[in-house]
Amino acid sequence: MTIDPSTAAAEIGVAAFVDNITAIRALVAPAAVMVVVKADGYGHGLLTMAAAARSAGIEWLGVAVPGEARQLRMAGDDGRLFCWLYGPTEDLTDLVTADVDLGVSSLGELERVVSATRQSARRARVHLKIDTGLSRNGAPAAAWPELCRTAAEVADLVEVVGVWSHLAAAEEIGHPSIEAQVQAFDTAVAVARSAGLDPVLRHLANSAGALGLPATRYEMVRLGIAAYGVDPGVDVAARAGVELQPVMTLRAGLVQVKELTAGSGVSYGHTWTAPYDTVIGLVPIGYADGLLRQAGNHASVTVNGRQVPIVGRVCMDQCVVDLGPGAVDRAGDPVVIFGRGGQQANELAADCGTIGYEIVTRIGPRLRRVVSPGLQED
Ligand SMILES: Cc1ncc(COP(=O)(O)O)c(C=O)c1O
Repeated sequence: MTIDPSTAAAEIGVAAFVDNITAIRALVAPAAVMVVVKADGYGHGLLTMAAAARSAGIEWLGVAVPGEARQLRMAGDDGRLFCWLYGPTEDLTDLVTADVDLGVSSLGELERVVSATRQSARRARVHLKIDTGLSRNGAPAAAWPELCRTAAEVADLVEVVGVWSHLAAAEEIGHPSIEAQVQAFDTAVAVARSAGLDPVLRHLANSAGALGLPATRYEMVRLGIAAYGVDPGVDVAARAGVELQPVMTLRAGLVQVKELTAGSGVSYGHTWTAPYDTVIGLVPIGYADGLLRQAGNHASVTVNGRQVPIVGRVCMDQCVVDLGPGAVDRAGDPVVIFGRGGQQANELAADCGTIGYEIVTRIGPRLRRVVSPGLQED
């Protein structure tokens, strides 16, 4: 089912990941760093990235959904693990048994954690989530006091170790939501304390907050995209004095090179017609592998160290690049779609009208994640 890695692969630089984490850890200290490994480690491989984060000394990992937490536990990870997104009918018992910390956004979720503790005969650890203005999950301010009071009443079954929230626009300098969210967060923590709770871990910041907004760091930051070497915005890391290294390199070899006469149409729909006699190359990566269709006629790749445009529509399995008149590239020559030796994921993203997050998390299952050093696969 997978493409031979000598033809195309996503190379994962574990050392770069560890270096990014180490640099950001030093920046945010004494706040702790939770490394977020949801969505298959942002497309890089859940187990590989989790193990790499642990090897870098990271105490906390974060995942979105229970399946991700279960996969980590089944693989033997027994460190602190936070999971925050589950549906109204999911049974949480095995998560409580497996010592997974749960995010709780509502009374209904709290009740379900309580029932899970009864089933598992174990006290649960939860982090209550306040919606400070993202208007995504989290308890609205009006429901917060009751959530805190109820959590305090079931303290023998549920230990509230944290209060948390998520920022809406941390990468935008001076965005008015930042100040408002910090204030709402502080108010929520005060309410929790007055209800008798002792949330020792306050966490609000994502990568952009961790890098650029010291007031959002509290006891812990939840670090996602920056750990993978992708800037959460424009120069957010550089402004914080952190040099991020790309962790994923999407690379391939040209599978065919041929001459094309002026006036020939290329790929489905002939959305590009060669304006001159030229040489085209076939790259064995398409939208099923995560090279977005929007890249056709908008983005470029690096072939033999030079940037060449993707011409015509990106197909499911392949795309075509214009190597230029007289090009002497040959089948097998190296192509970097993004990463080391090529453009950054954010640059490809900009050409496709999206963000680097989507570029790395969309890499399809046919492409092997080849891990260096060591060249194991996740
Ligand atoms: C709740 C939560 N915390 C932290 C993160 C990490 O964010 P980032 O990748 O911007 O660091 C995410 C990712 O979207 C998230 O959903």
